[in-house]
Amino acid sequence: MEPWTIKHQPEKISEIKGQDNAVKEIEEFLKNYDKQKKKALLLHGPTGVGKTAAVVAFAKEHDYEFLEVNASDFRNKDKINSIIGENSKQMSLFMRPKLILVDEIDGLSGQKDRGGAPELARQIKTTNFPIIMTANDAWNKKLSPVRKESKVVEFSDVDNERIIEVLSWLCGKENVEYDELVLKAVARKNAGDVRGAVNDLQSLAREGGKITKEKVNELSDRRKTEELSSALIKIFKTTDADIAKDALNDVNEDLDECMLWVDENLPKEYEKPEDLARAYDNLSKADVYKGRIRRWQHWRFLVYYNALMTAGVATAKDEKYKKMIKYEQTKRLLKMWFAKQSNSKRNAIAEKLSEKTHKSIKQTIKETIPYMKVIFKNNKEMSDKLVEELELEKEEVAWLKK
Ligand SMILES: Nc1ncnc2c1ncn2[C@@H]1O[C@H](COP(=O)(O)OP(=O)(O)OP(=O)(O)O)[C@@H](O)[C@H]1O
Ligand SMILES: [Mg+2]
Repeated sequence: MEPWTIKHQPEKISEIKGQDNAVKEIEEFLKNYDKQKKKALLLHGPTGVGKTAAVVAFAKEHDYEFLEVNASDFRNKDKINSIIGENSKQMSLFMRPKLILVDEIDGLSGQKDRGGAPELARQIKTTNFPIIMTANDAWNKKLSPVRKESKVVEFSDVDNERIIEVLSWLCGKENVEYDELVLKAVARKNAGDVRGAVNDLQSLAREGGKITKEKVNELSDRRKTEELSSALIKIFKTTDADIAKDALNDVNEDLDECMLWVDENLPKEYEKPEDLARAYDNLSKADVYKGRIRRWQHWRFLVYYNALMTAGVATAKDEKYKKMIKYEQTKRLLKMWFAKQSNSKRNAIAEKLSEKTHKSIKQTIKETIPYMKVIFKNNKEMSDKLVEELELEKEEVAWLKK
């Protein structure tokens, strides 16, 4: 099925939401191109916020002759020269204005002389037509030759309200019935990322019928199973501690939940009793660290807790098992139920925090929530301020104090 981000991609610049400053700067740059000292723009910002879409929309709306290249196509600098070089000097067909997009330049190589970034910078100096580039991190050192020749334009996370506008507009186009609160939940979950929100909306609408809060929860359960399954593959299917130790980095759940998953699936994966014994030995050591973290707030033990259940379990076997099994959510229902209860509050708090801090929810859960809990136990004045600032509910405050 065609992704809605493509099917309904913005055709006009007014359809790009929440990037007013950036849009103005692009408009100004193109309108007075001849007077610009710098002949290129470098758009940068987080993923899924409209950088590429804004340029495409401009080109369409103003009927530019449009050349779009992805920087990953430039395996060497000659390629840059032949594509950009030629296009930036030749007149356009039928005297239409011309616009060149070089997308995702984070991937360019930086070495002096031989590098892609210096070559692109050289092309900018001699271009006759506007060149617009995009990157997630414009301040990457290797991009400095390009940055020197360009005006840098910042795209930011998109506000929830703007994301909701996009989502409800799409629901209208696709005849999807919805509840405002559900769209809000989808927007929040994606913390500024419009592409992510649109993709979620499309998954939710796939089954037909009204999209409800229950469906949003199902979707996140499904995501969670996918995330944890691929984390478990990294732990179970390697004996290399270095590979295994990063297994949980992309998981949105806290370590306790991950531990339950490892615990549940370990006996299905490891068959040799020696392997199992060693693995469980490491898991129980992890559990000891967990206890110390709980009781005494010894956060530096988190590293060991994580290492034991990833690298510790991975290296416990002599060799990996070839079979493939489907990893499952833990069956310890009671435990799960408790975890879920408290997780829903934790997640709600993390969502509110990440809106303010622009950190991902995942990072917030791992890095900020633990400190919030310390604050709520020890510092009344600061906790009161936080309650007000984040509009925390009574139950959420109770959870933080627990
Ligand atoms: N600000 C926005 N307003 C409206 N729709 C948006 C916005 N940002 C993103 N979208 C939607 O998400 C899709 C993807 O956005 P886009 O490709 O512009 O992201 P990007 O900022 O270039 O991200 P990346 O850094 O990953 O390339 C767009 O086609 C559009 O459907
Ligand atoms: Mg892009």
